[in-house]
Amino acid sequence: MAMVCLSDFEAYAKKYLPKIAWDFFAAGADDCSTRDENILAYKRIRFRPRMLRDVSMMDIRTKLLGTEISFPVGIAPTGFHQLAWPDGEKSTARAAKVMNTCYIASTYSTCTLEEISAAAPGGLRWFQLYIHRNRAVSQQLVQRVEALGFQGLVLTADLPYTGKRRDDVRNGFRLPPHMKLKNLEGFFEVCKMSPLDPSLTWNDIYWLQSLTHLPIIIKGILTKEDAELAVRHGVQGIIVSNHGGRQLDGGPATIDALVEVVEAVQGRVEVYLDGGIRKGSDVLKALALGAKCVFIGRPALWGLAYKGEEGLQDVLRILQDEFRLAMALAG
Ligand code: FNR
Repeated sequence: MAMVCLSDFEAYAKKYLPKIAWDFFAAGADDCSTRDENILAYKRIRFRPRMLRDVSMMDIRTKLLGTEISFPVGIAPTGFHQLAWPDGEKSTARAAKVMNTCYIASTYSTCTLEEISAAAPGGLRWFQLYIHRNRAVSQQLVQRVEALGFQGLVLTADLPYTGKRRDDVRNGFRLPPHMKLKNLEGFFEVCKMSPLDPSLTWNDIYWLQSLTHLPIIIKGILTKEDAELAVRHGVQGIIVSNHGGRQLDGGPATIDALVEVVEAVQGRVEVYLDGGIRKGSDVLKALALGAKCVFIGRPALWGLAYKGEEGLQDVLRILQDEFRLAMALAG
């Protein structure tokens, strides 16, 4: 099967992954309207292409908080990569390094942070943090990633509780016994309730800042009010995100929310976006509307499901080629 666009990887993953894993990756909350809207919203946006602008040389590199990446697409944090490929997050880290882009490793990784680092020394990595009721657990994770050379801390703000994903409920989704949330071992399993702390407020950003010198990027912002609060609390970056439509169903598509966030922030911090990026032209639309970079969630998992590290590289390379072409054709 020729892999030409990201939908080809989606079709492959759907066909070959165990149903329970596919359903978990694909899930949105409730009736998935926000998940689907993330994609539909791109189709409503149209370019105003300009002609005869000498597009023989194009530079698609950008910088994330000062570090150069090869093009403005990174890998969003998603959990449980071993459900897609046996080497899990190690493969993800290697692919991101080869493609010279940023990989945000999830708190819910199935490889240890040490394994992820060792798999791709020197790669640009940020760590995504869910804050636990037991703050000592989170503190230890933050200190570990800082010591391991991760370069940013991504605080996910949109998951005080897990959204209701119907297929996961129907399937009784849980990790197979041979896979572990390796960075939370010994802690997660003993919790009867969700170990995540639903009492978080903006003040907890000060607590995080007291633990680390790493820049803090807040993920899950969708309004100008929260964007302003994020800037006032001293974060260095904002990821406009609705968790791929897996949390509150009925919220806006991220590409629609981007505009008010960018306007509120006025260049004071970097603004990124994730959700629904499936083509190079989607990347260009997000950049044209003010994002500095975008991140892919599910498409990275489809790439892993196809051929591990190589499959994820293929996904990134296709997006890179499509993005370059869209830039050229838009003038
Ligand atoms: C996620 N996402 C996510 N976000 C996060 O902050 N921590 C996490 O552990 C996870 N885990 C996770 C698992 C799976 C299977 C999915 C699909 C998503 C959300 C993710 O970072 C991102 O916001 C969305 O995936 C972006 O949307 P697309 O690219 O999947 O459309």
